[in-house]
Amino acid sequence: MLDREYALDRDCTTLSRHVFQQLQSFSPDAQDLSAIMNRIALAGKLIARRLSRAGLMEGALGFTGEINVQGESVKKMDVYANEVFISAFKQSGLVCRLASEEMENPYYIPENCSIGRYTLLYDPIDGSSNVDININVGSIFAIRQQEGDDSDRSATDLLQNGRNQLAAGYILYGPSTMLVYSIGRGVHAFTLDPSLGEFILSTEDIRIPDHGPVYSVNEGNFWQWDESIRDYIRYVHRHEGYTARYSGALVGDIHRILFQGGVFLYPGTVKKPEGKLRLLYETSPLAFLIEQAGGRASSGTQDILDVVPEKLHARTPLIIGSREDVSLVESFIQERSRQKEEAVSH
Ligand code: AHG
Ligand code: MN
Ligand code: MN
Repeated sequence: MLDREYALDRDCTTLSRHVFQQLQSFSPDAQDLSAIMNRIALAGKLIARRLSRAGLMEGALGFTGEINVQGESVKKMDVYANEVFISAFKQSGLVCRLASEEMENPYYIPENCSIGRYTLLYDPIDGSSNVDININVGSIFAIRQQEGDDSDRSATDLLQNGRNQLAAGYILYGPSTMLVYSIGRGVHAFTLDPSLGEFILSTEDIRIPDHGPVYSVNEGNFWQWDESIRDYIRYVHRHEGYTARYSGALVGDIHRILFQGGVFLYPGTVKKPEGKLRLLYETSPLAFLIEQAGGRASSGTQDILDVVPEKLHARTPLIIGSREDVSLVESFIQERSRQKEEAVSH
């Protein structure tokens, strides 16, 4: 009998139950967070279901022909996933506003606003270039408390640093679908059991190694980077114990590094010093998560969680992963900037 009870406990920590366990409370705030996580999980399940059959469906893959606010070609799956998150939160009473990579301005759900003072920030499909070739993609999310009056649609309250995120995480659509999240009490991974249709706790309290062998960066941009980043890459080329891994989807690359250590970089280029990745729904949620696992995330000169965006779709360079590896990259940046200062003062 005892054995059977144990089996049930081990196998059935669902996401919503885990949120309550973490917060050690059934307070209204805990109820809200648990319900919000449940809705995010629902969106993840719907997206995973469509991805798993996309090659067999009419109109699931390929481009729409539109260009989004980022200046990037939109895929049909980007549009689908963006709408899934919106419908998961309609009539939920939970989230008043959603802001996404795919929408120029935040989307308001006025009927929720009197009760749900939260904003969901998300990248509905991260790594869209992988969609048509059946390789891993992800979704990234963060929850923030909503401030101010919602008759004011400027959303300037979002232009704050990432330390006040209430929750953040990602869903990875790989061989299995996983949801990894933090509400500021460590990082926990759930695996979707398709036979139950539930995310079940698979790894609790993930700690990222202080150092790892992987460096993950698009080296095709080598000649467009600042010299300091080239210095770092030359360093790993000349030292034993490094290996390159780059999938084209940030979520998958970070997932590997979270479990096995190493560093992911998306530096700025000389033409675009702020790089490619967006702060509010890409780099800041992942920085929150990696810091919670004992790692670091830096823009090169500042912790990502301290960066204050000047607009909704602001971009930032990203160096993220194991503490020692992030510090090593930063040391090359500091060295070049010291040399520049010295050259100026002479
Ligand atoms: P998205 O598909 O949301 O636009 O994000 C793609 C991002 C990120 O997932 C990935 O690491 C990076 O862009 C890949 O960019 P490159 O093709 O420039 O390497
Ligand atoms: Mn992305
Ligand atoms: Mn995207």
